[in-house]
Amino acid sequence: MCGIIGYSGRSDATGRVIDGLYSLEYRGYDSAGIAAFVGGEVKTVKSEGRVARVCEMIKNFGGIKSNCAMGHTRWATHGAPSDVNSHPHICGKTVLVHNGIIENYAELAAELDAKADLLSQTDTEVAALTIDRSYFECGDPIKAIAEASKKLAGSYAFGIMFADLPGSIFGAKKDSPLIIGISDDGNFIASDITAVLKYTKKYIALSDGEMCRISADGYEIFDALGAPIKKEICTATWNAEAAERGGYDHFMYKEIAEEPTAIKKTLAPRVKGGAVAFADDGIDDIMLSEMKKLTVVACGTARHAGLIAKYYFERLCRVPVCVDIASEFRYRDPIIDADDTLMIISQSGETADSLAALRLARERGAKTVALVNVIGSTIAREADTVIYTHAGPEIAVASTKAYTVQAATLLAFALRTAYAKRTISFEELKRCTSVLTSELPKATESVIGRSAELYEAARKYFSADDIFYIGRGADGYIADEASLKLKEISYIHSEAYAAGELKHGTLSLITPKTPTVALATRRSLFEKMMSNIREIASRGGKVFAVCADDFPCGDAVEARFDLPACDEMIMPIVAATACQILAYHIAILRGCDVDKPRNLAKSVTVE
Ligand code: F6R
Repeated sequence: MCGIIGYSGRSDATGRVIDGLYSLEYRGYDSAGIAAFVGGEVKTVKSEGRVARVCEMIKNFGGIKSNCAMGHTRWATHGAPSDVNSHPHICGKTVLVHNGIIENYAELAAELDAKADLLSQTDTEVAALTIDRSYFECGDPIKAIAEASKKLAGSYAFGIMFADLPGSIFGAKKDSPLIIGISDDGNFIASDITAVLKYTKKYIALSDGEMCRISADGYEIFDALGAPIKKEICTATWNAEAAERGGYDHFMYKEIAEEPTAIKKTLAPRVKGGAVAFADDGIDDIMLSEMKKLTVVACGTARHAGLIAKYYFERLCRVPVCVDIASEFRYRDPIIDADDTLMIISQSGETADSLAALRLARERGAKTVALVNVIGSTIAREADTVIYTHAGPEIAVASTKAYTVQAATLLAFALRTAYAKRTISFEELKRCTSVLTSELPKATESVIGRSAELYEAARKYFSADDIFYIGRGADGYIADEASLKLKEISYIHSEAYAAGELKHGTLSLITPKTPTVALATRRSLFEKMMSNIREIASRGGKVFAVCADDFPCGDAVEARFDLPACDEMIMPIVAATACQILAYHIAILRGCDVDKPRNLAKSVTVE
C-alpha cells in the first residue's frame, strides 16, 4: 500500500533510500518523499508523482549528502495524492513515514485539539503529532513511540526520525510489514526485503507491537513495553537480480517468462519417490485423509487460484471446498470451527483482509494452512502450517507467476489429498506428479515462445471497449482470472461468465463490437462450448478461442490459439498463461503502464 525505507550508516543514505524507493514503488506510486539528516538538521523533499520526480528535485538541489535518511512511496488512502499529503510528515521534532491506516485519526485530532497544527488531510500527520506530543512529554524516543502506539487504532509500519537525534531512525509496526536490514556499512528499515536486497540479504522481520532503532553502529529491538529483545537474523534466498527487470521491457512480462522455472522450483523439492508430498511442510497423509471440508479465503487473483483448488479438490478428492472473499469473510460470521481446515492464499502474505480472516479462523480453532510466496511474511508466520511457493519476487502489480504457481501447487495438494483418501492410486499420483513437474513447465514454456501469435490476436481486439471471457468447469475459473488481468492493466471493461450462463441475460450485451475470449480445454465439454460460441457468433459477436488443438470450432470463431498438446488436467493452467500474455499485449498496444496500473498497488495492507 505504501513503501517505506530508512538507512543509517557510513555510506550514501540518499542513494540507498532512492534505490529502495524504486523497488518499493509496486506498493504505491502516487507520491513520494525523503527526509535526511544533513549537518545535524532534517531536510525533506517530497512531491506528488513517482519516485523519479523526487529524484529529479534532489538533483536540482545539487544532491543531498547524508548518511541517515528515510523515504516513502505512497498509495493514497486519506487525502488525495498531492505535495502536501506526501510523506514524510513533520510535527515538532517528529518526522514520520507511514504505511497503513490510522482509523481513529479524526478522534485523535479532536482530542489533541490539533486542527490548527495540521497541514495535510492525512491520517499520518495525526500520528506524527501524537508521537511528537508524547516525545515532548517524556523526552525518550522509544517510550514516546510506545505511548503513542497505545492511542492509535488501525495499522502501521512507521519510520521515525527525531530532529534532535541525528543519525538514528526508529521503526514500529502493527499489521503492516517492517523489516530491519543488516549490512556491513549500515542498517536499514524497510517494508520488505526487496528494497534492500542490493545491499544485504540479512534481515529481521519485526512482529506486531515491536519497535526498533537503527544507526550506523547497529540496531536495537524493543517489545511493546519498550524492553530490549533479541530476534533471529534471517537470510533472504532471493537475490537482487530476481527483483530487477533484467533485459525485459516490463516486470510483468519477465514474471510471465519465469513461470516454467517457478513451477519447477516450487514442486521439485516436494517430490518424494516420484510422488508429490507435503509432509516436509508439516502436512502428512493422516491430516489430509481426515479433511472433510476445505475453506479457502483470499483476495483478487489469489482467490481465483482458490477457485481452481475448488475444481480440483472436489473432482479428485470429493472434498467440498468453499472459496470466500477475504474482505467479506469475517463480516458474515462464517461457519467455521475446530473440525475445519482453512487455507489462506496470498502472494505477499501481508494482505490485510486475508490476515484478518486467518486470525478469525484461528480464534475459532480451525486448522490453518497458508499458501504464501513471501518467506517470513505475517500470514506465513501466523498460520499453523505454511506451504511456500517459490515464485521469487513478484514486482509487477498484476499477479502472473504467483497465480500459475499457486494453481500448480494447489493441484499437487489436491492430488496428494486424493491419494491420502485413496480416491486415486499411488501409481496415478506418480503419473500426475510427472505431468505437473515436467509437462506443465514445458507446455507453459511453449506458450511463452508463441507470444507473437497472441500479439496478433491482441491487435484484433485492443480497441474494444468491452471484452467477455467464457469457459466451463476449470476453464470458467481461468476465465475469471483472465478477465481480471485484462481489466486491471488495459482498463478495458471485461466480465467473465460460466459459458452456459451467458444466455440468461448477458447475451444482450453481445454486439459485433464486443469480442469474447472462449476457453475450451475440456474435451467432455467441447460440444456445450460450441453451442455457447454459436450463440455469440449468430448475434454478430466475434470469438477468439484459447483451446485444445482438437477443439472443433470451425469458422464459428474469428481466430484461435491452440494450446500445446498436454494432459487435460493441466491445460487450464497453461491457458491461464496464454491469457496473461494476451492481456499484456493488449495493454501495451493501448499505451498503458502495465507494471503500475492506475489506482492500484500490489501489497494491499489496508482493509
Ligand atoms: C491482481 C492482484 C491482486 C492480488 C490481491 C491479493 O493481479 O495481484 O488481485 O492477487 O491483492 O494479494 P496477495 O496474493 O498478496 O494476498
